[in-house]
Amino acid sequence: MENEIKKQKTFFGHPMGLRTLFMTEFWERFSYYGMRAILLYYMYDSMVNGGLGIAKTTAGAIMAIYGSMVYLSSMAGGFISDRILGSRRTVFWGGLFIMFGHIVLSIPLGFNGLLFSIALIVIGTGLLKPNVSSMVGHLYAPEDTKRDSGFSIFVMGINLGSFLAPLAVGAVRGSYGYHAGFSLAAIGMFVGLIFYVIDSKKQFNKEDNQAPDPIQKSELKSVIQKLVIGVLAVIVILVIMAVTNTLTVDNIVSGLSIIAILIPIFYFIQMLTSTKTTKQERSRIRSYIPLFIAAVAFWAIEESASIVLAFFAIDNTKVMHIFGSAVDPAQYQSLNPLFIIFLSPLFAMLWVKLGKKQPSSPMKFVIGLMFTAASYLIMAVPMLGHDENIKVSGLWLVASFFLVVIGEMLVSPVGLSVTTKLAPKAFASQMMGMWFLADAAAQAVNSQIIRFYHPGNIANYFLFGGIITVVLGLVLFAMKNRIKEMMAGVN
Ligand code: PHE
Ligand code: ALA
Repeated sequence: MENEIKKQKTFFGHPMGLRTLFMTEFWERFSYYGMRAILLYYMYDSMVNGGLGIAKTTAGAIMAIYGSMVYLSSMAGGFISDRILGSRRTVFWGGLFIMFGHIVLSIPLGFNGLLFSIALIVIGTGLLKPNVSSMVGHLYAPEDTKRDSGFSIFVMGINLGSFLAPLAVGAVRGSYGYHAGFSLAAIGMFVGLIFYVIDSKKQFNKEDNQAPDPIQKSELKSVIQKLVIGVLAVIVILVIMAVTNTLTVDNIVSGLSIIAILIPIFYFIQMLTSTKTTKQERSRIRSYIPLFIAAVAFWAIEESASIVLAFFAIDNTKVMHIFGSAVDPAQYQSLNPLFIIFLSPLFAMLWVKLGKKQPSSPMKFVIGLMFTAASYLIMAVPMLGHDENIKVSGLWLVASFFLVVIGEMLVSPVGLSVTTKLAPKAFASQMMGMWFLADAAAQAVNSQIIRFYHPGNIANYFLFGGIITVVLGLVLFAMKNRIKEMMAGVN
C-alpha cells in the first residue's frame, strides 16, 4: 500500500489525496459563499421581485446567526467522525446534506423552505468542514515538512471557490433570478461530491475509514440519554415560547446567540478544571483566552461583510463598471477571497524573510486588529456628516475589504496554528474546534448588534465598531508580554 502511494502521481509535489480534498472544499465553499452572496438580498427583497419580503434587520440577524450555527455545528461533526463514522464517510454525508440544502433553496418554497435549507446546510457543513480539514492533516506524517505548505494549498482552494462563487452566482441571479442562483450553488456541491466519491476510496489513509475512538456499547446508553434529554429540552423550550407568544424569529436568534457564546466559555472552564490538564497546559489555556477574544472581534468584522457591507453595496454604492459590465452588489463579496489569494504568498514570504525578527503571535494579533478596525473606520468616512441616502464610489468597499484581509493575514493562519500549539494533550481535537467556535461566537455577537445598522446610524455603526476594536487591540498590546509568559515556550 505504502509503495503504491509513492509510485502515484503527485499534486504539486503533494499526495494526490490533497487534490481530492482541495476540489471537495473548493466546491463546498463555492456553494456556501455563492449562496451567502445573494441570500441576504433574497430574504428582504419584495415578493414581487422574487424575494421573501422579510424585514431588513431580521434578514441581517438571520444571516449572522445562520453563519454562527454553521460553524457551531462543527463540534457535532467532530464528534460524529471521531466516535461513529470516521472522517471519510462523515464528509460524504456532509456534502449530501449541503447539496440538498441548496436544492431546497433553488425551488420557490418561501420562508419554510429557507428554514429547511438552513437546517440542512448547518448539519452538512458541521459534518464536512472540520473533517475535510483534518483529513488534510492526515495526509502527512507528524514531522513531514510539507504539511504547512499542504495546508496553504488547501486554503487556496477555499478562497478560489469563495472568489468565483459570488461572481458566478451574482451574475446568474442578475439574469435569471434568485432560485437560479441557488441552483448554481447546488450544482457546485454536486460536482464536489462527484470528485470526492470517485477519488476518496483509494487516496486516503485507512485511519479516515473508521472512527478513531468508536463509542463503546457501555457508553451508548448515556450518549443516547443525553441526546434525548437535549432534544426534549429544545421541544419544551419551544412549546413554552409558543404558549407564551414569544416564539418569534428575533427571540430564537437571541436564544441561539446565547448558546453560541456560552459553549466556548463552557469549553474553557472544562479544560481549565480537568484533571487531565497539567499546570503548564493550564497556563497556556489562560494565555489563549485573550487571543480567543481578539479572534472573536476579528471574525465579527470579517463576517459582517456579507451583511453590513452587502447592505452598503446595494444602498450606498454607485454602480461600478469593470470591463464595460456593471458590477452586481453580490459580486463585492469576491473581494475578500481575491485579496487573500494575492496576499497569502506575500505574507508567507514576509515571515520567511523576517525569520526570528518577526512579531510574536500576540503582536501579530494586535497589528491585525488595528487593520481590522481600519476597515470599519474607513467606511465611516464617506458617510460622516452626509445624508445617509447618498451613493458613493464602490472603491470605499474595495478599500475596506483590502484592510480587513490584511487583518485576516495576521489573525487567521496565526490563530489557527497557535490554537493547535496551545492545546492541552487531552483536548487536542476539541481545541481545533475552538477555532470554529471563535467564528461562531463572533457571528452570534453580530446577530445582536446588526440591528443598529440602519440609515441614520451607518457612520456611527462603523465608527463604534472600529473604535471598540482599536481599544481591544490596545488592551491586547498592554497584555502581550504577560500572554507570552503564559504561553510557556510556545510562540
Ligand atoms: N472564510 C473562512 C473559511 O471559509 C471562515 C472560517 C473561519 C471557517 C474559521 C471556519 C473557521 O474557511
Ligand atoms: N475569508 C474567507 C475565509 O477565511 C473566504 O477563508
